Amino acid sequence: MGVIKHIIDGVSVPVIAVRGDLTLAAANAVAFEEFPELDDVGGFARFLDKTKGLHDLLGEALEEQDSTKAKVKARNGFRRDYTVTIQSIGDFEGSQILLLTFEDESIQKDIKSMRTGFVANVSHEIRSPLTAISGFVETLQGPAIENVEARERFLGLMAKEVKRMTNLVTDLLSLSQVEAKERRSLKKVVMPDMVIHQAIEAVTAMALKSGKTLLVDIATDLPKVKGRQDDLVRVLINLLENAISYSREKGQVRLSASVNSGENPLGTDAICIAVSDDGEGIAAEEIPLLTQRFYRVDKSRSRNLGGTGLGLAIVKHVLVRHRGKLVVESSLGEGSVFSVYLPIAENSSQS
Ligand SMILES: Nc1ncnc2c1ncn2[C@@H]1O[C@H](COP(=O)(O)OP(=O)(O)O)[C@@H](O)[C@H]1O
Ligand SMILES: [Mg+2]
Repeated sequence: MGVIKHIIDGVSVPVIAVRGDLTLAAANAVAFEEFPELDDVGGFARFLDKTKGLHDLLGEALEEQDSTKAKVKARNGFRRDYTVTIQSIGDFEGSQILLLTFEDESIQKDIKSMRTGFVANVSHEIRSPLTAISGFVETLQGPAIENVEARERFLGLMAKEVKRMTNLVTDLLSLSQVEAKERRSLKKVVMPDMVIHQAIEAVTAMALKSGKTLLVDIATDLPKVKGRQDDLVRVLINLLENAISYSREKGQVRLSASVNSGENPLGTDAICIAVSDDGEGIAAEEIPLLTQRFYRVDKSRSRNLGGTGLGLAIVKHVLVRHRGKLVVESSLGEGSVFSVYLPIAENSSQS
C-alpha cells in the first residue's frame, strides 16, 4: 500500500483508500489532519459509523465497480459537509481498492458568505450618505428655501457627503483592480525614490492644510524594485494619508527609506519604506484586523476624515502582487510605524 500512500500524499484534499472489506488501506496526511481519529485502532470503523450514508455509498461502489459522488456530513470536531467522490481503482495486493476524496463544502460557503457580507457592507456605506443627502434636499426644498445662511450650510454638508461617496467608489474600483491583478507577474522595475517623491507631492497639500509636518529621509542610491509605479505610489499615499489623519494636532509624519539586507520579514534583500506618526496609536489586538475591508478602529472618526476603510486593504493586495510585506508597529498614545518591505529586483544596479 506504500505506493498508494505515496501517490495520495501529494493531494491537497483528504483522500482515503479503503479495501473491499471496508478496512483502511491508506490515508493521506491531510486526511489524518482533518480526521485525526483515523490514526487510532479501529478508527476507520468508527469514522464509517458516524458518517451517515458513507457505508451504503461504499457498498454501492463495490457492487457496481463504478465511481459515485455524494454529499456526506463528516465530523472532525466541527461538523462539516463534504462532497465525497468514491472511485474504484481496481485490485491491488489482492483486494479491490476504493479511493474516497473529500471536498470541503464549507470553503465554498465561506466564500459565498464573504461575498454577501461585502455587498451588505458596500450597501450600508452608500446608504448612509444617501440618507443624509436626501434629508438635506428635503430641508432645502422646505423650511430652508428662503434662508441663505442655512442654504449655504446644507449645500456644504451635501458636498461633503458626495465627496464621501466619490471616495468610496474610487477606492472600490482601485480595490477590485488590484485584486484582479494580484496574481499577475510584474515585468517592469521602478525606482523607489521616484515612487516616494510622487507620493509626497500628492499629500503635501493635505499635510499643510491640517497643520502637520512632513519629514522625508531617503537613503541615496536606493536599488530598483520590481513593480508598478502607480500601484506603489497608491500604497504610500494611503499610508501617508492615514499618518496625517491620525497623528496628533501639529504632529509630525516621517517617511524614511533604506536598504535592508539583514533580517527582515521577507528573508531576502529588500528596501524598507517606513511611514511613522506621533498619533494616537493602535491597540495590539486591532493591528491584525486593519487590512480587512471596511475595518476601522473608530468608524465615525474615519468617516469624518473622508476615510472609506478600504485604504489598507488596497495596500495589502498591491503588496501581495509585489511579493512585499506590510509590518505595523504601534503603541497607544505614542504613534505608529507602517513599514513596507519590497524585494530588490535582481540585477538591479544602483542607478
Ligand atoms: N497611522 C495610523 N494611526 C492610527 N490608526 C490608524 C493609522 N492608520 C490606519 N489606522 C486605523 O486603521 C483603519 C483603517 O485604515 P484604512 O484602511 O486606511 O481606512 P480609512 O483610513 O479610510 O479609515 C483606520 O480607520 C484607522 O482606525
Ligand atoms: Mg486610509
